[in-house]
Amino acid sequence: SDRYAVFGNPVSHSRSPDIHHAFAAQRGEDLVYERIEAPVDGFPAAVTAFFDGGGRGANVTVPFKEEAHGLCGALTERARQAGAVNTLWRRDGVLHGDNTDGAGLVADLRGQGWALAGKRLLVLGAGGAVRGVLGPLLAQAPAELVVANRTVARAETLVERFSGQGVALHASALEALNGRFDVIINAISAGLYGDMPALPEGLVGDATVAYDMVYGARPTPFMEWADAAGAAAVRDGLGMLVEQAAEAYQVWRGWRPDTAPVLARLRHG
Ligand code: ATR
Repeated sequence: SDRYAVFGNPVSHSRSPDIHHAFAAQRGEDLVYERIEAPVDGFPAAVTAFFDGGGRGANVTVPFKEEAHGLCGALTERARQAGAVNTLWRRDGVLHGDNTDGAGLVADLRGQGWALAGKRLLVLGAGGAVRGVLGPLLAQAPAELVVANRTVARAETLVERFSGQGVALHASALEALNGRFDVIINAISAGLYGDMPALPEGLVGDATVAYDMVYGARPTPFMEWADAAGAAAVRDGLGMLVEQAAEAYQVWRGWRPDTAPVLARLRHG
């Protein structure tokens, strides 16, 4: 069977093997997808050993996405823009890298029926997760995209990196945000267990939809905040996880799996 893997540290909680095995079953494809916990200082050697041993493709998760970007001899445009790689394969001895996170996010938003074109979009956070998805979000042609972060300088750096794509792109401090947004996407990594930073009132209206890029067994503090503020709908990032995996599967194997039944099974056991 064809071998695939996800590299991370820690990685024992990763749901990627279940997802990719479910995709393969849709067409009776024979593959094995495992978790590989690389040492924090041993990612390049682990990747080389995997592909030398016949591995066909790999996903990369925290904390190795930026390092994976640096290892690749060839990058897709979206991986180059993101400065991070979550999907690897080797062809003619050259390590290739792609980043499917942004496409996965956009696919899940579309699956919820949430169009971005012409909308006022707020992204909370300015770390690696945001850099990975900004290009695909901007390509959806929102009317305006505001990147808001505790450390404004990081938001400003992202705005410089991604400006010039025909969208009004602005950086903001969290406390300086104002006006109502149509769509709010959270990528503040304290989002799963920590407290939400305080945000001004009036960002959420009764037509606002809110999306957390992380997921957990229960609603995140961001989701609870958005719900309490009266959002029309609130979602976690499990769908993004499945969609980015489907994009990776397509890169490796040439067809895009059906994500809906896989997401439903993950959600309801
Ligand atoms: P990731 O890969 O998840 O994006 P990261 O690059 O470490 O991880 O980015 C973490 C993000 O969460 C940043 O936007 C960070 O804000 P700063 O740039 O100001 O550090 C944000 N963050 C983490 N904890 C936070 C908190 N308690 N309050 C506000 N923002 C927080």
